[in-house]
Amino acid sequence: MTEESPSLYYSEYLELDKILGSQHPKSAGTTDEMLFIVIHQAYELWFKQIIHELDIVRHIFSQESVNDNAGEMGLAVHKLKRVVGILELLNQQMGILETMTPMDFLEFRNLLLPSSGFQSLQFRIIEAKLGLKMEQRYKVNYYKNTRPGGFNQRDYEAITAVESEATLKGLITKWAERTPFFDESLWAEYQSQYPSGSDGQKFWDDYKQIYKHSLSKNEQGRLDELEQVFYREGLGEFSVSAMRAVLFIMLYRNLPIFQLPFELLTTLIDIDELLSQWRYKHMLMARRMIGMRTGTGGTSGAGYLEGALRQHYIFKELTEVTTFLVERSKLPELPKAVQEKTSFNTN
Ligand code: HEM
Repeated sequence: MTEESPSLYYSEYLELDKILGSQHPKSAGTTDEMLFIVIHQAYELWFKQIIHELDIVRHIFSQESVNDNAGEMGLAVHKLKRVVGILELLNQQMGILETMTPMDFLEFRNLLLPSSGFQSLQFRIIEAKLGLKMEQRYKVNYYKNTRPGGFNQRDYEAITAVESEATLKGLITKWAERTPFFDESLWAEYQSQYPSGSDGQKFWDDYKQIYKHSLSKNEQGRLDELEQVFYREGLGEFSVSAMRAVLFIMLYRNLPIFQLPFELLTTLIDIDELLSQWRYKHMLMARRMIGMRTGTGGTSGAGYLEGALRQHYIFKELTEVTTFLVERSKLPELPKAVQEKTSFNTN
């Protein structure tokens, strides 16, 4: 350490004066409002970290190609797993807040009107960066307004700006579309089981039949869905080629090169699941605290939260792929060229 640079001091580095000087209950004395404030602030700090991690992952996927030699895919998965860890913690925190009883909450609830967690800018940024779209929202008219209980002008504009950026979901669909495993040259030596198929791509001609034979009598309708999702239209934001890539990765996840992509996809599903668990716990907690009263933010309260819980899944296309898996023993053997392309040492 040089003489000019003063030694770093713990509380200064962490700016604890600011953080610990920012709890100002509106109610006097013995209420639980301090807990209420601390929990919300802790949430907001963790939201900040989640946004930081998501930005790194979005940057990785916004490039022309993800550079596996530089470990970028590994880094993206690592960061998303950290988000999973944070969300698990955030779910646990709900239990601490529930040590406050409804009567304890009533002591100071009216002092908070019309503010609400609904106005959490960072929560909205997380939703938007992950890829929750306006048109997917439950009761769009509750959301994104500048009425009392809605957002202030600055936050409203900040949300609008984030909504115009590429979402993680959008970037993942593009990445999936870029996977190069269905280049015809790789499939020249593939042994078709059902050569008379109409798709033109040998693997997918076979897969339709393999899937069909895996369905029980009363499940035959699923074949139409398979055709729609993987042969004609795709699903949601995922095109046919993106859906094919996702299914192929899930089917052949043991191939060396698919292990990280498979982890990526399952981690995104984990994130969706944990967010939805948070929504569920928060909804139950809100119902327990305020019953059927409207929220401080002016929505119908628990009813709104239940609707958001049902509707605000982000990566549901990924979960739906499971419907179209078949047993591992039924999977076609891949031609040598594809096997080589999907192993580390020959790429
Ligand atoms: C006594 C505790 C709490 C109650 C009774 C409660 C109640 C509510 C209600 C009724 C809503 C719907 C909007 C409204 O009309 O106000 C809401 C939304 C929300 N609250 Fe809470 N909340 C509590 C604690 C928390 C905590 C600790 C957080 C953490 C940040 C939080 C974050 C949110 C978020 C992000 C929304 C928007 C959810 C969405 O639109 O999907 N809330 N809350």
